[in-house]
Amino acid sequence: MPSFHVTPITTLDAELTVPGDKSMSHRAAILGGLSDGPCTIRNFLPSEDCLNTLNAMAALGAPHTVHEELADFGPVNLTIQGQSMHLSAPAAPIDCGNSGTGMRLLAGMLAAQPFTTELFGDASLSSRPMGRITDPLGEMGARIETLGANPGCAPLKIHAATLQPITYRMPVASAQVKSAVLLAGLFTEGTTTVIQPATTRDHTERMLASFQVDCLTDGNTISIQGGQTPQATDFTVPGDISSAAFWLVAAAALPGARLTLRDVGLNPTRDAVVHVLKRMGADITITPKDVPGEPIGDLEVRGGKLTATTLEQSEIPNLIDEIPVIAVAAALASGTTVIRNARELRVKETDRIDTTVKNLRAMGGVVEEFEDGMEIEGGHPLHGATCNSFGDHRIAMSFAIAGLFASGETTITNTDCVNTSYPGFAHHLASLISK
Ligand code: S3P
Repeated sequence: MPSFHVTPITTLDAELTVPGDKSMSHRAAILGGLSDGPCTIRNFLPSEDCLNTLNAMAALGAPHTVHEELADFGPVNLTIQGQSMHLSAPAAPIDCGNSGTGMRLLAGMLAAQPFTTELFGDASLSSRPMGRITDPLGEMGARIETLGANPGCAPLKIHAATLQPITYRMPVASAQVKSAVLLAGLFTEGTTTVIQPATTRDHTERMLASFQVDCLTDGNTISIQGGQTPQATDFTVPGDISSAAFWLVAAAALPGARLTLRDVGLNPTRDAVVHVLKRMGADITITPKDVPGEPIGDLEVRGGKLTATTLEQSEIPNLIDEIPVIAVAAALASGTTVIRNARELRVKETDRIDTTVKNLRAMGGVVEEFEDGMEIEGGHPLHGATCNSFGDHRIAMSFAIAGLFASGETTITNTDCVNTSYPGFAHHLASLISK
C-alpha cells in the first residue's frame, strides 16, 4: 500500500497552483449535465470523487468529451452535453466511491426521476448517515431505500417518484443536504425552501445563478422555483482552498518561508481557514483577481511563529474540512487552541476527531479529546512517527504537513486516498522536501 515518507524542512520558497475545487467540480458536472446544451468546464478536478460524479452523469445520459487530461488522473478540460433536465435510466448501479457530496447531491437529483437508480460507495461512504437527505427527500415524496448493513446508510435504492416542493428547516448545517433538497426542488412544481441553522458553502446557489436558474437567498433561507432548466454555460473551476490549506499551514508555521498560491477560490463561505491562520499570527497577503463567477485570488504567505486561537461556533461550517490541518497548525503554535461545536467531524470520511487526535498523539502532540472537538496544547516538539491515514485523504495530507515539522522521519500509511481530492499532492510534497 503506498505511503508518504516525510522529513523535516528548514526552508520553503515556492509557488504552487493547487488543483480545481472539489465541491464546485461535482456541481459543475451535475448542473452541466442537466443544462440545455454543451458546457465546457475548465480546471475540473480529476480526483476519484469528482470523476465518479462525472461518470455518473454519463451513465444517466449526459456524456462528456475530454479536451485535456492530467496524466495518470483524468480530464481537467471537458465539455459535458446537457440533456435539458431529461436523464435516462442507468444500465447499472452507480458507484460514488468515497464521496458524500457525490452521493448526496446525485440522490437529490435522482429522487425526482421517473426511473429507479441505485447508488453505492466504499466502506467509509457506506457508514455515513444518509437519513439527513432521505428524511427531507421523503417529505417531498421520494421513495428511497437505504440498503446498507448500517441502518440509514448506503447503498441507496432510489425509486421513481414525483416530488412536491417543501419548506425544510435543516437540523444540521450541511451544504450537501441543502444542495440535495434544492436539486430535488428543481424538478417540482412550486417553490422549495431550505432554512439552514448556520451559513454553509453556497456554491450550489452561485452555480445555479451562473446557469440562469433563479435561486433566492435571504440570510440563511434559500428558495428555488421548480421547473427551470439550467441554461448551458462554461465554467472555470477555481483552485481548491481546502487543498491550499495544507500549504498555507506549512508556510505560515515555518519562519522565513515564502509561498505563493495562485488562483485559489476565495468564496467567503469557504475562506475562514485564511482568517483563522491570520488570527494565529500568519502573514498572508490576499490579492483578489477580477474574474466573473466565484471569487478567486493569489495568496502570499511569509512564515513566522503561530499562536493559539479559539474557533468560533459560526466559523465551523466554513472550515469544517480544514480542521485536521488547523489542528496540526495548533500543535505547532504556542498556547492552547480550542476547537468545539464540531461534532460533524465525526461523520466525515473518518471520525476526524478520533483520527486527528490519534495521529497528533502518535507524534508527541498534547491534545484533549471532546465529543464535539479537541483542545490542543501547542509548542510540544513533534517527533517522527507512523501515522495511519485511516483511508481519509485529509488526514493523510494533514499529517504529511505535520511531518515537515517533526524530528526524524514520519511515515503516513495508506495514502492512496489522497487521490479522492488532490491528485498530484505527493508530487507537490516531494518538490518542497527536496529543496
Ligand atoms: C461539501 C460540504 C461539506 C464538506 C464536504 C463538501 C459540499 O459537507 O465537508 O467535503 O461540497 O457540499 P457537509 O455539507 O456534510 O457539511
